[in-house]
Formats: sequence, structure tokens, C-alpha cells
Amino acid sequence: MGYRVAVAGATGAVGREMLRVLAEREFPADEVVALASARSIGKEVSFGEEQTLMISPLGSHDFSTTDICLFSAGSAVSKQYAPKAARAGCVVIDNSSHWRMEPDIPLVVPEVNGDALRYYRERNIIANPNCSTAQLVMALKPLHDVFEINRVVVSTYQSVSGAGQQGMEELFSQTRGIYVSDAVERNVFTKQIAFNCIPHIDSFMDDGSTREEWKVAVETRKILDPDIDVVAHCVRVPVFIGHAEAVFVETRMPIDPEQARSVLRAFPGVVVVDYREDEGYVTPKECVGEDPVYISRIRTDPTVDNGLVFWCVSDNLRKGAALNAVQIAEALVADYLEEAA
Ligand code: A2P
Repeated sequence: MGYRVAVAGATGAVGREMLRVLAEREFPADEVVALASARSIGKEVSFGEEQTLMISPLGSHDFSTTDICLFSAGSAVSKQYAPKAARAGCVVIDNSSHWRMEPDIPLVVPEVNGDALRYYRERNIIANPNCSTAQLVMALKPLHDVFEINRVVVSTYQSVSGAGQQGMEELFSQTRGIYVSDAVERNVFTKQIAFNCIPHIDSFMDDGSTREEWKVAVETRKILDPDIDVVAHCVRVPVFIGHAEAVFVETRMPIDPEQARSVLRAFPGVVVVDYREDEGYVTPKECVGEDPVYISRIRTDPTVDNGLVFWCVSDNLRKGAALNAVQIAEALVADYLEEAA
């Protein structure tokens, strides 16, 4: 016997990927319900190679008939519906930023801090981290366990799918528009994204950083270790799928690239591809549709006592969102919900 599962935001970039990952990994579901706004009633979405699901309206869904709901419909929707679902006995795994920093809500990357799931019952809500945070902590965890990280500087190169389906459509239409000499229309991004880079993701904060940069810092500390200093600079780049990060790490213990390579290689979900030659590294294009976090360009930072620099790439819709959410559901089922099945 399996679980009754729902995906809220099933017509979106992450929601569709959630359905794909649930099917691919053969999540033990007796029923999968696809939820979206009333605008999408009558639409169908794919579930696996052969099935399609009719969209049901989130607003009238009876959550007492659902065991686990994966939410990826934005913060406002999560704020409104996640508590309603949780009260009805449905466990919410939420991909929005709304609940992540609540102290009694676990923020989880299963390979890194899966044990935090033990307090999920406090609110019946589990938060999925920001896409840039998820791949970053996957790379940092094995290094922190051995070399004790005390400071991280990270520059991100984030694809437009991080802004959802409309972000992808805007890159496509602007690129096409430029080739055929049409006017470039802007709706999602603050500047033209085609053939450009935008150092601005989410809103500005009082100290001049953006909320995206703040999220990477505070979420990394919550998941990994509150004593690590983190500073991030986040940039939107004209790539459809796949986030990249240049990461600068300072450690308490001496660290050398060869040792770092071997501890990274041993960590589940991390793949090291690091040859000092043409094509000896992974770029966003190659990680699309893939599960791992890829690490390349590992080298010493000679400007600090114990420093390492590397490049980290992952499919933001998978490990950065849908895959991580489904892995949380798998861990929940394996370690906490099995008696319910
Ligand atoms: P819809 O397609 O019906 O608008 P993305 O992150 O790719 O932009 O996708 C956002 C997802 O969140 C979509 O599935 C969208 O559904 C859903 N969504 C947005 N607002 C609501 C809402 N008020 N109620 C339910 N689903 C919503």
C-alpha cells in the first residue's frame, strides 16, 4: 500500500519536474493529484512516460485525503495553504521561501541534515531550501566534516528557470526578438536577460544585499552550521536550466585540493569532474536532467591560510528543487511514516 500524494503548482517549472521525479523514482504513491490555480482547470500535465493527470484546483482541495503534498506555487500560496494542509493531517514539503527560517520547521537536504526531519511533526511542514543553497551545502558538507569550514564566499550564476516557467519564456522570447529585430519585452526580470547578466535576484535589503543573497547565507547556516560565515553574490544569467557557483572556502584545518577531491568524491550525490584540460569541467548545459551536484576546478586559494576554490554546477529544478523535495518525501516515508502505509 502506498501514499496519497499531491503536487501544488503542478503546471509550473518545478511542479512538472516534481511529477517527473516522483514517477522516475517510483515513489510509493497510490494516488497522485496535480493541483494548480483555477486558471488551469481543464489542463493536463504528464506523470511519467505514459500517464497524464487532470489539474484540480488547489483552492478547493480537501487535504484530509492527502498524506504528503509537495508545494511549489510561490510564497503567498504556501503561506495560505500549507497550514491548512498541515492542520488536515497532510505533511507539507514546501519549496517556497516562506517557512524556511521558522525555527520549528526543518529545512532539509537529506544527505546533509536528514536528521532534522525528526522534528517535522511540530508544524507538519518541512521546508526545501533555495536552489543555490541546496547545491552549495551538498558541496560544503563533506569539506566541513573533515576540514571545519569557517567562512564561505560564493558567487552564483543562476539560470532563468529559477524564476519559473515565465522566466524561461522571457529568455526565449527576448532572444528570438533580438534575432528578428523585434522589440524586447520585459515582464519577469528587471533588465534584459538575453545576452546579459543581472546582479539582482529577489528584492533589495537595507544593507544593499538582495534577499536571494541573504537566503543563501542564512539557509546554509541553518542547514550546516550556524558558526560558518557566508557571503553570497547572486547573478541571473541567460541559461535556461542549471545553476553554477564559484565557491571560496576557508577552513580551520589545513586543506589541500587532493584531499578535498577525495572527500567530495566519497559523498553521496556529489560527482567530481576535475581535469585541468579543455572540457575537463562541468557546465550548466551538461547537468540538465541530472541528479548530482558536480564539482570542478578544485584548487588552492593562495591568498588565505587554509583556502580552497571550486566550481559547482547542478540542475536547479532537480537537486535545487524537485529532486530534493522528493528525497525528503522518501526519507519521511522510510523513517517516519511507514506505520501509516
Ligand atoms: P497556474 O499555472 O494555474 O497559474 P512557476 O513557478 O513555474 O511560475 O509556476 C507556479 C505554479 O504555481 C503554477 O503551477 C501555478 O499554477 C501555481 N500557482 C500560482 N498561483 C497559484 C494560486 N493562487 N493557486 C494555486 N496555484 C497557483
